[in-house]
Amino acid sequence: MSTRFLLNGEPQAADVPPTTTLLDWLRETRRLTGTKEGCNEGDCGACTVMVTDRDGTARALNACILFLPQLEGRAVRTVEGIAGPDGTLHPVQQAMIDHHGSQCGFCTPGFVVSMAVAHLNGRRDHDDQLAGNLCRCTGYAPIVRAAEAAADAPVPGWMRADAEKLRDPSFIFPQIRPSGATAPARPTSSDELAAWYEAHPDATLIAGATDVGLWVTKALRELSPVAFLNNCADLRGIVADQEIIRIGAMTPLTELGAFLADRHPSFAELIRRYGSVQVRNAATVGGNIANGSPIGDSPPALIALGATLHLRKGDTRRTLPLEDFFLAYGKQDRAPGEFVEAVTVPIQPDRLACYKLSKRFDQDISAVCGCFNLAVEDGTVTAARIAFGGMAGTPKRATEVEQALVGRPWTEATVVAAQAGFAEDFTPLSDMRASAGYRLRAAQGMLMRYFRETRGEAVSVLEVRA
Ligand SMILES: Cc1cc2nc3c(=O)[nH]c(=O)nc-3n(C[C@H](O)[C@H](O)[C@H](O)COP(=O)(O)OP(=O)(O)OC[C@H]3O[C@@H](n4cnc5c(N)ncnc54)[C@H](O)[C@@H]3O)c2cc1C
Ligand code: FES
Ligand code: FES
Repeated sequence: MSTRFLLNGEPQAADVPPTTTLLDWLRETRRLTGTKEGCNEGDCGACTVMVTDRDGTARALNACILFLPQLEGRAVRTVEGIAGPDGTLHPVQQAMIDHHGSQCGFCTPGFVVSMAVAHLNGRRDHDDQLAGNLCRCTGYAPIVRAAEAAADAPVPGWMRADAEKLRDPSFIFPQIRPSGATAPARPTSSDELAAWYEAHPDATLIAGATDVGLWVTKALRELSPVAFLNNCADLRGIVADQEIIRIGAMTPLTELGAFLADRHPSFAELIRRYGSVQVRNAATVGGNIANGSPIGDSPPALIALGATLHLRKGDTRRTLPLEDFFLAYGKQDRAPGEFVEAVTVPIQPDRLACYKLSKRFDQDISAVCGCFNLAVEDGTVTAARIAFGGMAGTPKRATEVEQALVGRPWTEATVVAAQAGFAEDFTPLSDMRASAGYRLRAAQGMLMRYFRETRGEAVSVLEVRA
C-alpha cells in the first residue's frame, strides 16, 4: 500500500504491506537506527517519534505500534530530525548533556523526542509528559531537570517547518504507483467506511492501533483485509450542546481528557493515568469501547455517566445504552460490518468520581476501575449509576449496590449495608493483577471512599502529606 508523508522534512512515498510498522521501516529500510526497539508493544517509549497532522497538531507516538499507512499526509520527525539541519542541537538535547541525562543512552532518543514535542507544545507537566519513557540507568531526576532547564528556550524554527510545509497549498507529495498486492482501505469519511465495511464485513478496522499493533508485533497475526480509520475526519472530535456531549469514535484519549478537565475532572484524571502520552495520543474512544476489554478504562466512566453508543452498518444506524453493548467476555453486540460511530453522554452536574487501582500510578492497566455517579437530594440518594472494570468479563454496572442505595439516606450505615451488594453483582477472577477477594474488598472500599469524598474528606493518596 502506498503511503506519502514527510520524514524529517523530506517527502516520502513508501509502498509496503499495510501492517509494516514505522519502527521496522525506519530501521530496516531507511537505516534510521536512532529510533530504538525496546519492548515493541508501546510500553517503553524507546521508539518515540513526533507526528504532525495537517492541522499542525504535533504528537509523540510510539513507532513500534504505528503502521505506515496511518501516516498518510502527515509528517514524521525522528530523533535524527530533532537537531537543526546544520547540526545545531535542539535545546532539550543540549540540556540532556548539561544535566547528565543519559548513561547507556538506549532510552535517550525516545526521551529527547518526547521532550522536544512537549517543548513545542509548551507543556511543563514533565512527569506526565515523560511517563511513557522508561529509563533503567540514569534515573529520572536529571532527565526532568533537563526538561525544566530547556522549557524557556525558544522553539527552534525547524520544529515548526513540517506544519508549515503540510499547510503550504503549493506542496504536493510525490506520486507513487501502488503495487496493488494488498489493497487496504483508507476511507476519508464515515460514509465511505460504512460502504466499504458492509462489503468487507470480515475486515479488521484499525483506529489508533494500540491494540491491533500488538496483534502484529506480539501475536504475529497477519491481518487482511484492513481499513485505516484515521483519515475519517467526521468520526473524530467532540461537540456539545445544551443536552448532550457527542464524542466521535476516532477521538484520541488525549483530546477527551482535555475536554473533560472542566466538566468531569475525575474522568480527566482517570485518562491522565491511561497508558502514557504516546498511547493516549493514538488510542481512540471507539477502539477502547469496541475491543470489549473488561479492563478498558473509559467504558466504566462512560456507563456511570449514562452513555449511549451509536453504531452504524451501511446506512442503518442504531443506538443502545453502552452497558448493553458488552454481552460477555470477548462478545459484543456488534454485527459483522457494523462499526462504532460515536458515544453520547447527557449533560449533567458533575458528581462523577473514578478510582483506578493499578500496581503502578503511571502506564498501567487497571486491576479494578470503579466509577460512581450518585444524586443526593435532601440527604437521600435519588439516583445511582455505578460501573466497574476488572470485576467481571465485561465492564458492568453494580445494579444490586445501586438498588441498595437509591431511596435511602446518604449515610455511612447505608454505604456499609450496600457494600454487601458487590458480592451479588460480581464474581471477579483471580489473575496476575489481583485476587478475587482483593477485587471485591477494593470495590467495597471504593464506595466508602466515594461517600467520604462527597463529605469533603481528602481521599486521594496523592494528597496525603506527612
Ligand atoms: C502500552 C499500552 C498501555 C495501555 N494502557 C491502557 C490503559 O491504561 N487503559 C486502557 O483502557 N487501555 C489501555 N491500553 C489498551 C488500548 O490503548 C485501548 O484498548 C485503546 O483504546 C484501543 O483503541 P485504539 O484506537 O488504539 O484501537 P485499535 O487497536 O485500533 O482497535 C482495537 C479494536 O477495536 C476495533 N475498532 C477500533 N475502532 C473501531 C470502531 N470505530 N468501530 C468498530 N471497531 C473498532 C478494532 O478493529 C480492534 O478490534 C494500553 C495499550 C498499550 C499498548
Ligand atoms: S519499543 Fe517500547 S514503546 Fe515502542
Ligand atoms: S540511560 Fe540507560 S536506559 Fe536510560
